[in-house]
Amino acid sequence: MKRIVILISGRGSNMEAVVRACHAEGWPAQVAAVISNRPQAAGLQFAASHGIATGVVDHTRYASREAFDEALAQEIDRHRPDLVVLAGFMRILTPAFVSRYAGRLLNIHPSLLPAFPGLHTHRRAIEAGCKIAGATVHFVTAELDHGPIVIQAAVPVLPGDDEAALAARVLAKEHVIYPRAVRWFVEDALQVDGLQVRHRTGEPQLVL
Ligand code: GAR
Repeated sequence: MKRIVILISGRGSNMEAVVRACHAEGWPAQVAAVISNRPQAAGLQFAASHGIATGVVDHTRYASREAFDEALAQEIDRHRPDLVVLAGFMRILTPAFVSRYAGRLLNIHPSLLPAFPGLHTHRRAIEAGCKIAGATVHFVTAELDHGPIVIQAAVPVLPGDDEAALAARVLAKEHVIYPRAVRWFVEDALQVDGLQVRHRTGEPQLVL
């Protein structure tokens, strides 16, 4: 059984999708803990009500990013994770943290990377006149929102879309691709070679 620790900052709908798929599909894995940097993160209640250990490491209580990341890593490591899943975790992580979990740290980002790293992805995609948008699951490396791409989902940008409408369309696809990517990881189905990630038996890594 692989052990998964999920980090959230808020709503936690991607965390919820992963937890539900893990149970429903009988993965060789368990979500060992859900940890937030925000005490009020709504997703903590879902996790607790599903019998999952929860933790809070409040970033406002630490003087530096390094001190926060060290405390966070200690809290994570109590649960002996094989995989750490960033699910709407809105803190930039230090290189020391990223290298500690190298090869076992996944993130979901609400754009078709390498387009639109950083914040406000949907607004920026609309302003740029994009006709297509989407989401990306990738391994985390030291450079923000880069790293080997595991799976992407694409959605149209429709005339009249505002940020909220596009975000909702993308989020529905996030809930499809994040559980799939985590499942592939816990099944040892992923081969990583530099920036190239391949599914061993050729499962499609693009959802349209
Ligand atoms: C998701 O759209 C996720 O892709 C995004 O935050 C949202 C979290 O929603 N993540 C980032 O922007 C990371 N840079 P959730 O809490 O309901 O999963």
